[in-house]
Amino acid sequence: MEGPDEAALDSAVLDLSGETAGEDVRDDTSPFFVSKKAAAVLKHAILDKYVVPFASKVGKYAPDGRVVYLDGYAGPGRYDDGTPGSPALILESAAAIADFRKLDCYFIEKNRKNFQSLSQLVEEARGQGLAAHALQGRVERHLDHVLEAAQGSPLFAFLDPFGLGITFEALTERIFGSRRASRQPTEVLLNFNANAVRRIGGLLTSRKDTPGKPATLRALDVACGGDWWREEFLDSRDNAEAVGRITRGFARRVGREVGAGSWTVGVRNRANLQVAYNLVHFSRHRDGLWLFGEAASLAQVEWRRACLPPETPGMLFNPGDTFEQEEEARRLRWIKRIRANLEDLLHKHGSFVVGNHQAEVLAGVLGEARERHVRAAIKELFREGKTTCNGVGNVRDLRVTGTY
Ligand SMILES: C[S@@+](CC[C@H](N)C(=O)[O-])C[C@H]1O[C@@H](n2cnc3c(N)ncnc32)[C@H](O)[C@@H]1O
Repeated sequence: MEGPDEAALDSAVLDLSGETAGEDVRDDTSPFFVSKKAAAVLKHAILDKYVVPFASKVGKYAPDGRVVYLDGYAGPGRYDDGTPGSPALILESAAAIADFRKLDCYFIEKNRKNFQSLSQLVEEARGQGLAAHALQGRVERHLDHVLEAAQGSPLFAFLDPFGLGITFEALTERIFGSRRASRQPTEVLLNFNANAVRRIGGLLTSRKDTPGKPATLRALDVACGGDWWREEFLDSRDNAEAVGRITRGFARRVGREVGAGSWTVGVRNRANLQVAYNLVHFSRHRDGLWLFGEAASLAQVEWRRACLPPETPGMLFNPGDTFEQEEEARRLRWIKRIRANLEDLLHKHGSFVVGNHQAEVLAGVLGEARERHVRAAIKELFREGKTTCNGVGNVRDLRVTGTY
């Protein structure tokens, strides 16, 4: 696939780090928003690092540089300790690009208490001249209004429920479908809850007479766009395999339906814990998928740092002391892997453009490594006389040509 409009890159499956397992079983009155858990750092860092490049790029051709941002499950905006939640973070991004892009932000929140703090945040933002709207109620109720407001402008939707979110039909038909005629980009980042898959999938084999079992199973059918997930669950050796297969199946089906490529980022509480949820990103543009890979890679650095245990005063050795060394070891490992991938591509094609082979160039390090590591690998090959490409310029546009 060459042109960005054809987008359908293969789904790339990343497996990164994570947030509190069991998030989906919390209810609206839970202490979830008291302070930010280390792993929410990953989710927020991805948003933080992606929305600005996205808005900068797609807003270039949009009327008045306006880009619509929808946060469908917004929460209170900030944690109780003042740390930004997704709305506060995005409003900071909106302020940072206000000189050249108008990020028109719609935040939807069902819970009354959360909505009160959200409204306050939105009022402050409006006071600073930003375009922000807080809508109380269920996302399903407000969706059409926001989609109407987004007509003619690019749209980025972030859907981050505690459990199952909007239906497959709402995602594919209402969000993507309503924008079919529009030439403006549409992207979605959604939280596909692994705990919900494990919990609901477990009902398939449970002998217990759980009340509401058929309705609960149907709820996952509706979220997944059919009951295909049931067979995937039953055919899997364990829950981890089931979550992986069902998330990939979901991403593939949505992608096929709406003509988009996707990234799937497994979010764990810590590297050795099970996936709490997957962040799935859909874009119809090759550029969007490339930029998202950059954001995911950068976000992971923040997450790894946030996972370090707090320093203990008086200790001779703190885990943070070796952080930079470990990052350097990762960097070298990634460059080595990318080099091997580039050499394979050279063998196969003789000459190729990096941006047309994102998945192959980054095979094995997808979502971990980023542009700078690709550039470093190309430069190594250049120094060794294996390519005529010196690695200078926009990495995605570089043509790597063999010398043999
Ligand atoms: C995981 S939290 C959102 C966290 C927020 N995105 C952040 O990163 O700071 C999910 C929020 O969705 C709200 N919610 C649950 N169901 C909803 C629905 N149908 N429509 C809108 N909001 C809903 C909950 O009250 C909760 O505040």
